[in-house]
Amino acid sequence: MAKNRTFTMLKPDAVEKGHIGAILEKISASGFRIVAMKLTQMTTKDAQNFYAVHSERPFFADLVEYMTRGPIVAAILEKDNAVEDFRTLIGATNPADAAEGTIRKMFADSISENAVHGSDSDENAFIESAFHFSGREMF
Ligand code: TYD
Repeated sequence: MAKNRTFTMLKPDAVEKGHIGAILEKISASGFRIVAMKLTQMTTKDAQNFYAVHSERPFFADLVEYMTRGPIVAAILEKDNAVEDFRTLIGATNPADAAEGTIRKMFADSISENAVHGSDSDENAFIESAFHFSGREMF
């Protein structure tokens, strides 16, 4: 399996609840190397662009409000099969459906505030990483 990269955000609810350390520990213990990382906050425009694919969905306004209400941790992670393995590690979009031991099962309360983002394809991982990081911020 080739080494590749995925993009993640620890979302405002996870940061507010003080879960940054515990989630990063789980990510590291699962074999992901941190390539880039920062504490940042999305503007309304940022969140609307990042989630543009959902702009017609009924939950879009709440999603933008949630993602901009406080800081997030943005990071790029590297591992063999990173995109798929990270999606497995975070679990289903709705934490109620997420498998035991997954990050969303452990740290998320609801589908609308589900603690963590993980890219769903190599192409989106590249686009989302470039959205948050310049080349000189990647190691
Ligand atoms: P989506 O890309 O479908 O899920 P994932 O984050 O697992 O790739 O949705 C993006 C985010 O939109 C999701 O993390 C939380 C929010 N969302 C809702 O608030 N309600 C919903 O019904 C869905 C499908 C998503």
